[in-house]
Amino acid sequence: MKTVIVHDSRYGNGARVADAFRDVWEEAGDEVVVAHVSQYDPARLVGDAPDLVVVGAAVRMFSVSRASKRWMSRAARELRVRGTRVPHATTFLTHGLDLDRIVAKGDRLRRRMCTCCVATSVYPDWLSAKVTGTQGPLADGTLDRARRFAGAVREWALSDDTPGAASAVPTRRM
Ligand SMILES: Cc1cc2nc3c(=O)[nH]c(=O)nc-3n(C[C@H](O)[C@H](O)[C@H](O)COP(=O)(O)O)c2cc1C
Repeated sequence: MKTVIVHDSRYGNGARVADAFRDVWEEAGDEVVVAHVSQYDPARLVGDAPDLVVVGAAVRMFSVSRASKRWMSRAARELRVRGTRVPHATTFLTHGLDLDRIVAKGDRLRRRMCTCCVATSVYPDWLSAKVTGTQGPLADGTLDRARRFAGAVREWALSDDTPGAASAVPTRRM
């Protein structure tokens, strides 16, 4: 599979989650691009044609970072004018507050991925990555959860039979 991961990490925590995803997927033989949202023009999605796109965001000032949401909207626009979509997508969120205080924001970010039309099919869950203090580090065990999440997302993408999503993924050899 080919995957693009964008994040808007300020202190490196979201970038570390993205790198943990990349390690898992590269180990499985995938091609993975990791970039800050400011460094990956959404128009590139058309030429790069990934099978999976991952958008990471952070909660700042009680809101999900605008740069990531803007990137999703621009990506949707670029893809729409070319009449295409990325087959699969997922999201993750870094945050300082406890999960129960930000779960609605994570759900909304995931739903935004569903409604913005970047992807044909969106993974049914998202990854919460809590940081300790404003600048991190990530809470204990977060990178292990990130690796497990990455494995589950890959399995899902490979077996997803949503019309229009399955065809872009190479058939697995039995
Ligand atoms: C100005 C500022 C405001 C923040 N506000 C919140 C907040 O409202 N809720 C929260 O859970 N975390 C908040 N945080 C913590 C960020 O979520 C945390 O810095 C970020 O997720 C770390 O990831 P990064 O290193 O990838 O940027 C805030 C951080 C900053 C710098």
